[in-house]
Amino acid sequence: MNDYEALITAAKQSRENAHAAFSNFRVGAALRATSGRIFGGCNVENATYGLTVCAERVAILKAMSEGERGFDAIAVVADTDSLTAPCGACRQLIWEFCGDVPVILANLKGKVETIAMHDLFPKPFDASSL
Ligand code: THU
Repeated sequence: MNDYEALITAAKQSRENAHAAFSNFRVGAALRATSGRIFGGCNVENATYGLTVCAERVAILKAMSEGERGFDAIAVVADTDSLTAPCGACRQLIWEFCGDVPVILANLKGKVETIAMHDLFPKPFDASSL
């Protein structure tokens, strides 16, 4: 199932809830479980800055905490001309919990690009490294 439009729409909706009081950089993510459920996430900043959690990790942790295991795509939406890719910390968790999924990057102007996790995160450290 490759209906990335629904995933992008969900990420845009989640972005509306971003708490980006310090950076004003609002990000939305949407993670699709193999069950078909979609979990949205937004970035949540706080006064320490460093305890900020990105939209992608919020979506992953929401899904994991609801008991979901197994994911087949994640979308990331920001209001940037050059599409916003997940940060390093998020790449680690996407890789560990979702594996080599397509990452759909989109902006508010309709620009969309899909990139595989193995291209975003080519030399991972994961459970197979232990
Ligand atoms: N951010 C995300 O939520 N996801 C990304 O893919 C890139 C960065 C957030 C973290 C912080 O709240 C703001 O964007 C600026 O870095």
